[in-house]
Amino acid sequence: MAKEKKKGSAGANAVAELIDALNEDLAREYQAIIAYTVYSNVLSGAQWMNIAAELKLHAGEELQHAMILADQIDYLGGDPTATPKPVKLSKKPEDMLRFDLDNETETIKNYRQRVKQAEVLGHYALAELLRGIIVQEQNHQHDLATALGIDVP
Ligand SMILES: [Fe+2]
Ligand SMILES: [Fe+2]
Repeated sequence: MAKEKKKGSAGANAVAELIDALNEDLAREYQAIIAYTVYSNVLSGAQWMNIAAELKLHAGEELQHAMILADQIDYLGGDPTATPKPVKLSKKPEDMLRFDLDNETETIKNYRQRVKQAEVLGHYALAELLRGIIVQEQNHQHDLATALGIDVP
């Protein structure tokens, strides 16, 4: 098993740290899937129709991200988490979009850090996968900022 193979090697701690960090990322992806699923159904009214449809698309992309992360965690010899980060709820559409926007901003920051960690360890394929995810998260961030009528943070 990959886990045994990595034990005792020079980069073992760094690999364990990367696995833990990717599991944090995975928990955030689960959070995003849940948030987009719930918010897209709670947002009602003509004003929010377009963004509600966008959020449904986001939910599907977040699931793809979760699948990629779970595969990569397994490949590195870790166990993918089954626990999402908590999802904040609100009755106000602006609040929900704001929660999503803040989460996307945090997620992008985390993935940029993760690309560096992966490259230091020579996991270039993982770094490329993460870059692809970042592009989609930036689109999510842009959609949310546009719906809120604000600049991208
Ligand atoms: Fe994602
Ligand atoms: Fe996202």
